[in-house]
Amino acid sequence: MKILLTGARGQLGLALTAALAGHHVVGADSKRLDVTDLEAVRAAMEAEQPDLVVNCAAWTDVDGAEADPQGAFRVNALGPRNLALATRACGSALLQVSTDYVFDGESDRPYCEFDETHPLQVYGRSKLAGEDAVRTYNERHYVVRTAWLYSTTRKNFALTMRSLAEREEVRVVADQFGSPTYVPHLAAGIARLVETEAYGTWHLAGRGQASWFDLARALYGALGIATPVQPVSTPEFPRPAARPRFAPLATVQSPEIRLPAWEEGVRDFARDLGS
Ligand SMILES: NC(=O)c1ccc[n+]([C@@H]2O[C@H](COP(=O)([O-])OP(=O)(O)OC[C@H]3O[C@@H](n4cnc5c(N)ncnc54)[C@H](OP(=O)(O)O)[C@@H]3O)[C@@H](O)[C@H]2O)c1
Repeated sequence: MKILLTGARGQLGLALTAALAGHHVVGADSKRLDVTDLEAVRAAMEAEQPDLVVNCAAWTDVDGAEADPQGAFRVNALGPRNLALATRACGSALLQVSTDYVFDGESDRPYCEFDETHPLQVYGRSKLAGEDAVRTYNERHYVVRTAWLYSTTRKNFALTMRSLAEREEVRVVADQFGSPTYVPHLAAGIARLVETEAYGTWHLAGRGQASWFDLARALYGALGIATPVQPVSTPEFPRPAARPRFAPLATVQSPEIRLPAWEEGVRDFARDLGS
């Protein structure tokens, strides 16, 4: 299959480049293809004629989106809309990556694909608008919601925790729960999903649930870091954007494409870092 991969230099883009190696992948970073530019998107589609576009381009600065909603909506909503219009015109399928932050976290159980959305912050609203555009303009779509991504590349929670290990102690929020996801596990799941033509909405995230505190402790354990980790509450760690309190992702879709447990992701992360 010929696959055009947008946002190819992001943490998921890099992992997908490896996971999709059996296909003919054309990687486009933000300099080569700006997804907010409809004419550029149309020109890229006409030049490449891919069977599938996988959109990893995104505005991922959750707090920064509060200060620049227009910027976030341009990348996260207009971008997918442009890709949906252009893929439909060329008869290509489209895979859009989305987020657990489309949910408000007020549930008492993990969210499945068919639960009602209600984002709490600009980032979640912009990603939900992107999902809606993809569903509206290209019926051959996959919307893959994932959560709490970390990998050995780019900027993410796990690498930040590692860089804080020199401190006397590290304070981490213990009252927000989600599904930590090691990016290569997600990339492998997406590589399996795109073989299926099982279009629709999918939750692909590390199995199980954890707080940021649980994740930090597991990471330090796996990396052999002895720095004490102290639990703190969300009000003790104020941020510009509200976060869902409890938004682990569950799935009612095919069991073959479930990702490994989040603890396995932590082990593989430590192994891949060479710890
Ligand atoms: N990170 C998480 O914890 C998390 C959680 C849930 C869902 N997700 C979703 O997962 C997906 C992948 O996230 P990630 O962690 O891989 O993000 P990332 O590392 O921040 O990568 C995003 C990429 O998008 C590119 N980009 C930004 N604006 C663009 C534009 N206008 N045109 C083309 N490319 C553009 C960036 O390029 P530059 O570097 O050149 O700006 C960057 O390479 C996103 O859809 C995100 O919303 C992420």
